[in-house]
Amino acid sequence: MGGNRIFIDGRELAFRSGQTILEVAEENNIHIPTLCVLKGATPTGACRMCLVEVEGARTLVASCATPASAKMVVKTSSPRVVSARRLNLELLLSSGHHNCLAQDLDSDSWTDAQLEAMSVRGHQDLCPAYGECRLQDLAIQYQVRSSRFQPSEPKHPVEDVNPLIARDFSRCILCGRCVQACNEVQVNRAISFGYRGAETKVTATGDRPLIRSDCVFCGECVQACPVGALIDKKSLNSYRPWETRKIRTTCPYCGVGCQQWLHVRNGRIVKVTGVEDAEPNRGRLCVKGRYGYDFIYSEERLKTPLIRESTGFREASWDETLDLVAGKLKETISTYGPDAIAGVSCARSINEDSYNMQKLFRAALGTNNIDHCART
Ligand code: FES
Repeated sequence: MGGNRIFIDGRELAFRSGQTILEVAEENNIHIPTLCVLKGATPTGACRMCLVEVEGARTLVASCATPASAKMVVKTSSPRVVSARRLNLELLLSSGHHNCLAQDLDSDSWTDAQLEAMSVRGHQDLCPAYGECRLQDLAIQYQVRSSRFQPSEPKHPVEDVNPLIARDFSRCILCGRCVQACNEVQVNRAISFGYRGAETKVTATGDRPLIRSDCVFCGECVQACPVGALIDKKSLNSYRPWETRKIRTTCPYCGVGCQQWLHVRNGRIVKVTGVEDAEPNRGRLCVKGRYGYDFIYSEERLKTPLIRESTGFREASWDETLDLVAGKLKETISTYGPDAIAGVSCARSINEDSYNMQKLFRAALGTNNIDHCART
């Protein structure tokens, strides 16, 4: 057997030095559940869901934070492992306010429970993450009920004082994905863990509300949250995941070309997220890309050219408008020369359009007075 070989669930697998057990398993389609792992960030081993049994080790180890080593023998779903994961899930479910009906149900009641939950008008009493909550998924998968432990009372009030992100600390499982998304992925460094022990809380700039902190509202923390602790207020109660379809597109705001998923319900965008594993943004979005999507539904949106007259603007056809503009440009150039005009192109347009715009001004109209709005 060569040096870099590991045995996972009886399969002999090659690994590269520095890879964790979890990475080797994932690369070989062996599923290990995780809650706290965030792609592109350092593993923290916070949630203990990825525990596996390693032959010769005294305790179960977190596969996300344990490097693979030669001749290691790993079991990912032994009875000991499954029982430890179930206990972790029970503790997580009892650590706060998780009213997703993942609790106190007989093991064959899930379908009924979910149907009942779907029929609740407005879903006000349901967790906003219902249907896309990783904790709920795992509770269902492992048939976990939290009845053994008394649920803990919320320690910190919900924060709801900004227009974009609500923070419900009673649903937070302290996995730290939001902190990593902010600090390691976006490098905004606006949030971190505050307080200690049972009082631990994700805090912003000395425990201020987000709106008075260094937060730039990129929403990366919301995208990273595996439960319903961080909530997009714009999409709150406007959809359930099974009602939407995802359409991939390119962000319309600047020339970077970030890849987005539009979550669409009944022909209307209800949420925007970044496309992980896609260049150039690898899942990241800025505040405009993530939250600035509703302009397309604005009543004030211009849909035809407007020509200004002494009595105000009037709608016009593109042919009429372009003839007017071309005539004015020609007239100005013949009277005052080409440097009397300047062009500002739109930074949201594609590179080819921007290229054509400068070509028109430089080569056809004869001036270098050309710019675009990206840096204004
Ligand atoms: Fe490994 Fe959370 S995924 S500890």
